[in-house]
Amino acid sequence: MKLIFLGPPGAGKGTQAQRLSEKYHIAQISTGDMLRAEVQSGSEIGLKAKKIMEAGSLFPDDLMVKMIKQRIEKDDCKYGFILDGFPRNVDQAKALDQMFAEQHLKLDAVLLLEVDEKRLADRISNRFSCAKCGASYNKQFKKPKKEGVCDVCGSTELVFRSDDNKDTVLERLRVYREQTAPLLPYYKEKKCLYPINGMKSVDAVTKDIDLILKKIKM
Ligand code: AP5
Ligand code: MG
Repeated sequence: MKLIFLGPPGAGKGTQAQRLSEKYHIAQISTGDMLRAEVQSGSEIGLKAKKIMEAGSLFPDDLMVKMIKQRIEKDDCKYGFILDGFPRNVDQAKALDQMFAEQHLKLDAVLLLEVDEKRLADRISNRFSCAKCGASYNKQFKKPKKEGVCDVCGSTELVFRSDDNKDTVLERLRVYREQTAPLLPYYKEKKCLYPINGMKSVDAVTKDIDLILKKIKM
């Protein structure tokens, strides 16, 4: 199964991609997480990515495409993968089409999570995660069982993303509207775009995704 998650910042791409990844034992490829890992490691790519992400802009296409190409060739992608945050503009989508053609892969569906902008800001400003294992939480919707302690690994290092501040979120939304939204007609034309009401609860969205995957006989 090869899937793409599309949707604005905070729409729930990461949340749903993680659930699907666990359910179907396929890789979750989050380009945002890949870049954050580079930042964490202090690599050359990471130094470049830090500035770009904090500004809310997009990392250069050529480097991003190269990273994805190397990633989908890894063993854990053999039985499928979910792209969470890639492609983000038409040039990246075209590069992905070429990659799929070269490797004789078939894209099964593009899942579009639709959420009102007002709700997005609310979700993002309440989001935090575990610095150690990456588990994601939300002050409003998904608190850890014990306050200040990660449910998954027990770490007490719970952090906010540096690009989740008001100004950067506004810029990320602007970039989504300008550069990523044109992917909607792009995939609609290819007849593989499935819009999903992302305003429902996390469980209800997961159910709707399952129904779509059943309908297309995954
Ligand atoms: P990235 O990390 O991909 O960020 P994003 O697209 O802005 O999306 P988010 O991760 O903020 O949101 P999400 O949709 O995953 O929502 P989540 O599930 O966490 O990218 C960051 C940056 O990296 C970019 O700005 C860019 O600079 C760079 N980058 C990345 N990919 C790139 C590319 N391809 N090319 C160039 N640059 C790239 O949910 C959000 C919150 O809401 C959570 O707290 C969650 O618990 C909660 N929540 C989720 N679903 C629900 C629900 N149904 N109801 C209530 N709460 C919910
Ligand atoms: Mg995400």
